[in-house]
Amino acid sequence: MPELASVVGDIAADLSAVTERGTVASYIPMLAEVPIGQFGIAVTTADGQVITAGDAEVPFSIQSISKVFTLTLALGQIGDALWQRVGKEPSGNAFNSIVQLEYEHGVPRNPFINAGAIVVADAMLSGHQPREALGAILRFIRFVAADEAITIDEAVARSEKETGFRNTALANYMRAFGVLQHPVDHALGVYFHQCALSMTCRQLALAGRYLAFSGRLSPGGPTVVAPERARRIAALMLTCGHYDGSGEFAFRVGLPGKSGVGGGILAIAPGKASIAVWSPGLDRHGNSVLGSLALERLAKAMRWSVFAG
Ligand code: DON
Repeated sequence: MPELASVVGDIAADLSAVTERGTVASYIPMLAEVPIGQFGIAVTTADGQVITAGDAEVPFSIQSISKVFTLTLALGQIGDALWQRVGKEPSGNAFNSIVQLEYEHGVPRNPFINAGAIVVADAMLSGHQPREALGAILRFIRFVAADEAITIDEAVARSEKETGFRNTALANYMRAFGVLQHPVDHALGVYFHQCALSMTCRQLALAGRYLAFSGRLSPGGPTVVAPERARRIAALMLTCGHYDGSGEFAFRVGLPGKSGVGGGILAIAPGKASIAVWSPGLDRHGNSVLGSLALERLAKAMRWSVFAG
């Protein structure tokens, strides 16, 4: 097996020469301002090492990657009752698609498309004000990443609120079906702020450890969630984590992963590592071009694909 640190270093060095980097998300004005020429990677392993390269210490907007953490919290709060309001199937549609919701009576296909994540945010509001739900999200992220410095970028949250017409439409539509149970602006307020969490690759890789190590921060370390819950969340990341690009990501990388339009991807090599990559240029599905390429190379070199070989 090649040495992980040299694989990670080689990937960062090789990718710096790649010119085809996709395009930066522009529908959220604050994200459109992020310079495209950045790439970071952080890998945290079972023995506690954190190996980084490139812009691994530069904070970026985690966007939809936050949906993994809010799903974990909502399941902790209301358990399997959540699955009556959101499905577990790949959507085969864009992350902000509206059409499927009408066919399926306001019940989103999975918790990672925008509509599904807004339902998850609504579930977190059971018995809580938006401020309390956001406090719980921040506390959880800081705990799993072991880093109290993580914050929400208010300017990004505001930027998305001012332009989030599609998400507002999705939320109102689901409220009409009774799938959303709290005021639409409360669920959206939580959702826009969770997406505006600002984290580095190092912080994100550390935050994903509980998914790599059967619900624990390290093998034999403190428990965050039950092993079965970690396994199920990882399964949804594999099948739904890259929207209508999920099949291609499984084909090329073979790891559970969750992307965000900020250009980040959190990927899990079960029992082996939690990996965060970031590069702001996106493909047509909204997934990081260089991030996917880096994970493809890493999984291949380390033989980390969950499908082996
Ligand atoms: O709601 C949105 O459109 C964004 N806050 C999040 C979308 C996202 O990250 C999709 N990921 N690739």
